[in-house]
Parts: sequence; C-alpha cells; structure tokens
Amino acid sequence: MEFEIKTKEQYQDYYKKSIENPKDFWAKIANNFTWQKKWDKVLEYNFEVPEITWFKGAKGNITENCIDRHLKDKGDKTAILWEPNNPKEKAIKITYSELHQKVQQFANVLKKNNIKKGDRVCIYMPMVPELAIAVLACARIGAVHSVVFAGFSSKALASRIDDAKCKLLLTADGAFRGNKTIDLKAIADEALEMSNSIETTIVLKRINAAISLDKNQKWWHSELENVSVHCEAEIMDAEDMLFILYTSGSTGKPKGMVHTFGGYMVNTAFTFQNVFQYDKNDVYWCTADIGWITGHSYIVYGPLLQGATTVLFEGIPTYPDGGRFWEIVAKHKVNQFYTAPTAIRALEKYPIELVEKHDLSSLKVLGTVGEPINEEAWHWYDTHIGKRKCPIVDTWWQTETGGIMISSLAGITPQKPSFATLPMCGIQPVLLDENDNEITGNPAEGRLAIQYPWPSMARTIYGNHKRFKETYFSTFKGKYFTGDGALRDKNGFYRITGRVDDVVIVSGHNLGTAPIENAIDEHKKIVECAVVGFPHDIKGNALYAYVILYDGVTGDEQLKKEINDLISKQIGPIAKCDKIQFVSGLPKTRSGKIMRRILRKIASNETENLGDISTLLNPDCVNDIILKRI
Ligand code: WTA
Repeated sequence: MEFEIKTKEQYQDYYKKSIENPKDFWAKIANNFTWQKKWDKVLEYNFEVPEITWFKGAKGNITENCIDRHLKDKGDKTAILWEPNNPKEKAIKITYSELHQKVQQFANVLKKNNIKKGDRVCIYMPMVPELAIAVLACARIGAVHSVVFAGFSSKALASRIDDAKCKLLLTADGAFRGNKTIDLKAIADEALEMSNSIETTIVLKRINAAISLDKNQKWWHSELENVSVHCEAEIMDAEDMLFILYTSGSTGKPKGMVHTFGGYMVNTAFTFQNVFQYDKNDVYWCTADIGWITGHSYIVYGPLLQGATTVLFEGIPTYPDGGRFWEIVAKHKVNQFYTAPTAIRALEKYPIELVEKHDLSSLKVLGTVGEPINEEAWHWYDTHIGKRKCPIVDTWWQTETGGIMISSLAGITPQKPSFATLPMCGIQPVLLDENDNEITGNPAEGRLAIQYPWPSMARTIYGNHKRFKETYFSTFKGKYFTGDGALRDKNGFYRITGRVDDVVIVSGHNLGTAPIENAIDEHKKIVECAVVGFPHDIKGNALYAYVILYDGVTGDEQLKKEINDLISKQIGPIAKCDKIQFVSGLPKTRSGKIMRRILRKIASNETENLGDISTLLNPDCVNDIILKRI
C-alpha cells in the first residue's frame, strides 16, 4: 500500500513529495480506498473566499471503507472492544461482521424514523457501543451526525440542537460515571423543552432507570424489532457533509465545525496508521470521548478505516481506583495507548503501586493530545507507563483540522519531550511574527498558521461561513490561522506553546503562559497550575498563578518564593509571578482544558461577568477561587 511509512528516510521522502506535488501525493493515498467513482479533480481551493474542495466528483461512503471493505479478511476480527464503567460487568467484543449488521440495522431504524440524506441527527449518549453504531449508521445513509458530549448541560445541548436544526435525538435513560449515575434522559427532556427542531427521540436503556417515554419518544430496543440488517450505503459526494462537531471559540457561541466525507476519510486513516504504527493484530485504545474530535477521528473513523481493534471505555480513570487505565491496558493487552496530559497529571498523584501492580508489557506506543504536555508529566509517562521502551507521540491538532497535524511517527521519527516535532505529510506549517511576516530559518517563535489545504480540514462553520472566514482566514492573508503559538527549534521541531490568546506581554516582553506553567509544574509539591495575565500599572501586565498542591502540603510564603525561583531559573526573572494563589481546583472544560478565560477575569477582578460556567467539569471551584483571591 502507498500508505505506510516505515523509516525516517521514507517519511522525509513522502513529506517532500507531499509538498512538491500535493495533488499527486493525496491522489495516491486516496487510491487505497473503495470509491464508487473516482474524483475528477483532487483539489480546488481559495483561502480568500474561503472555499476548499477535495476529490471533487468522487463518490462513495465512509462506512463501506470502515466496515464492508474489511469483511473479506477481517470479518471475525474484533472491531470494537467495549470496556464498561463497572469492571465487574462483562466487556463486549463486536467483530467487523457483527458491526456490519448492527450498523445497517440501525441505519434502517433511522430511515424508519424519517431520516434522510442531509438530515441532522443529534447524539447525546454515554460511551457505549450503540454510540459508535449510531454514528456509523448516520454515515451509512448520509445523515449528518452532531454528537454532543454527554457531560454538557441541557442548555448547551438545546443550543446545539437548534443551531443545526436536528430532527432526531438519540439518547439514553442514563449514564454510569464512576460510582454515580447521570440522568441523561432528564437533561435531554429539559433540552427538548428549550429547543424546537427535534421530531423524534430514541432512548437506549442503559441504567434501567424508572422512566416513561412521552409521545414522539421511543425505546431503542423496540425500534430494532423486526428491522432488516441490510441497508445499502448511500452514495455520497466526497464533499457531502459527514458531521458537525461543536468547539468553543474564544468568544461567543460554539462553532459547529463541518467535516465532509472524502478528505476526512483519507487523512484520518493515513494519520492513524502512521502516527500510531498500528500492526494488524494490535489492540488500540484512545481514552477520549466520542463527544470530542479525538473520539471521532481516533476511536471511530481512523481505526476502523484501518481495520483495527479499537477499545471504547465507558468509565473514568479513577473508578474504582486511580489504576483503572492500567488495569484495562493489562486486561485487554493494549498495544497503543492514547490519552490527554491532564489525565496523566491526575493519575501521577496516586500511589505508584496502582501502576506497578498491572502488567503493562503489551504497550508499544503511547500518545498524548489536547494540550501541551509538560516535561515532568512526559517523563512520568515515559518512565512508569512506557517503561522507557515505548515511543511517545505528542499529537498536535484541532477540531478544525480533523486529523493529526504535527506529531512524531512512533518509533520512526525522533521524539523530544514537550515537542510535537514534525508536520505530517501534506501539512505546511509556518510561523508568523507580530507584523504578520513569515519567520523563516530556525530557531523561531511565532503564531502558527498552515499555508496550504489538507484533506481533513473543516469546510465551514455550520450556518455561518462568515465567522469561518473571520476566525481562520482573516488574520493572515491566504493562510489558515490556528490560534496557537509555537516555536521551532534548530532541527525544525515544533513545540506548541499554547493559545496565542494566552500570551501575556509583561514589561514589553511576550511571555507564553505554558512555559511558565511548565516551570512551576517541576516543583515536587505541585500537582497542576495555571498562569494568566492581569493588568499592572507599571508593567502593563503581570502574572497570576493558580496552584494546586499535593495533599498535606501547605502553601506558604516560602513555597511562593521557591516557585518564583524555579521560574527565574528556567525562564528568567521577567517571568516571575506577582501573585500566587493556592487553590483546590482549576475550572476545566469537560475535555479537561483549563478555562483560562475565567481565571483571567478573576485575576483582573472582573468577577461579575464570568459568563456561562454551567458547562464546566467543576463549576464549584470557581467560587472558592474568588473568595480566596489575592
Ligand atoms: C491544543 C483537540 C499542545 C491547541 C485534538 C489546539 C495541543 C487545541 C495539542 C485544539 C498538543 C491540541 N500540544 N497543544 N499535542 N493538541 N492542543 O479542538 O491549543 O479540542 O489549538 O482538538 O488544543 O483543541 P481541540
């Protein structure tokens, strides 16, 4: 296959070709898939409009590539390996043949409920196999799925339903989460009161809640009765919408990023294969939720496109104890493990015996995604989980990019702690200075943009192309702006320094908050921290650090001094924090990102208008921080 990169030289060769002749390169990759009809044109684009078309004229269906294509030789292979929240409940293995039937059957349920190509289906479900099946069933018939993470509030769900005018809602009677249950159906009902477009709701029985259904609400299991397991795949244009997924912007309402089928398929399969170096009998596990882009691209589509066994985990990393991830790795002999730095930092706090009592020898590759990984967490991951023998892929990408953009290829290209390293094939990153000029040569530091299209990029914001243009294509002429800052070392390796809106200018010096946080995190007594800027009479801005300490450690003046000494040592006295507040928690989004916007407001004493904090993972910590503000 033209797919696999097995040596560093091959990467260099492929990369060169992908830049010199991108259309040829991507056509070769796309040739590996099943198409009803091949494309007339590989790429047409204009970043000014913006308008991006990949594989124009090509026809096919992503589920034929995720499932049907594998039946001949992998029909009995496990496609989805489901691990329930409660370790005492049995894990479930779904083979490719079974998945084929289940997806077609549920596709027929969708049809029976009046869903046609182009209709939007909102999915608000726990991490159960039916969630993946529902996603694929939508794709089977060309319906557009809009998965909303099951931790979002009813208000957030309602606004997403209305924004995309979804006709059908798929949900469950409840969800298990550690030792709690979440009343998903009640939240969904509240959302239905607040929104207008849903005609029918289908409810999966998961927790056996004592609930009854209203009219226009149906039980999932009843809907499946007497429904055929054959459903032809809808023939889709490469540029037909595959899904909408919401991501928060720096301001305003969430953006419904639109991904189309052809290019998304080609690049998620390509990146999955090469970043993780999946081998045919491997068991691959990404711990994300399907409610996020990582779950879409690297639990469902990427792995299934490559005929992989993908683990789907319903629970949380700390139930029944902080060793659950490692227990699952040992139980299912996981070979590739992909998680978020925030999870690593949280699990580091637990006694190391919770790691050591499990046999992690199956692991070959580790990955991280979602935020910069600090060196200290990187080394813990490398030492205790990878036992210093597993390459770590630090994968930088975004909901908008659809697939991994910058990352090492496991064991093939070099890694460097806290660096995402090199661009994937076909990805042309550039760094821009404060005057919007490209910075050539190395080392360099600036704002990160991408100067050429890639197949899996989002095509628009649903219902708001103007905002799409303003957010991504207006900062730099002819380039996609990522919103991130990055530096490039002398070897051309990229390190993502964080959102550029997190850059603070102190006494005229640009300071990224991420490297300061890295420095603070080095302190043995510190679990996690967040640094933001606040207005300062003389310096313009000064720095405010919120710091979580390990249990039993007291935050005193001596510790504050040690923190600033560390920063001085690692970055310079300019980066010292004027204020350091010891806190018990940091406000986080459901995907684990620290909501710096809130912390900035608190630091700036603008606490009246914090915006909607109901979608936070831990809204309670906000009041506590305000009360003890310095
Ligand atoms: C950040 C997640 C540093 C970045 C796939 C980006 C990262 C935003 C990394 C997108 C990484 C993601 N190193 N930062 N490896 N991966 N980010 O849309 O700021 O949830 O712009 O997509 O996360 O977050 P999103």
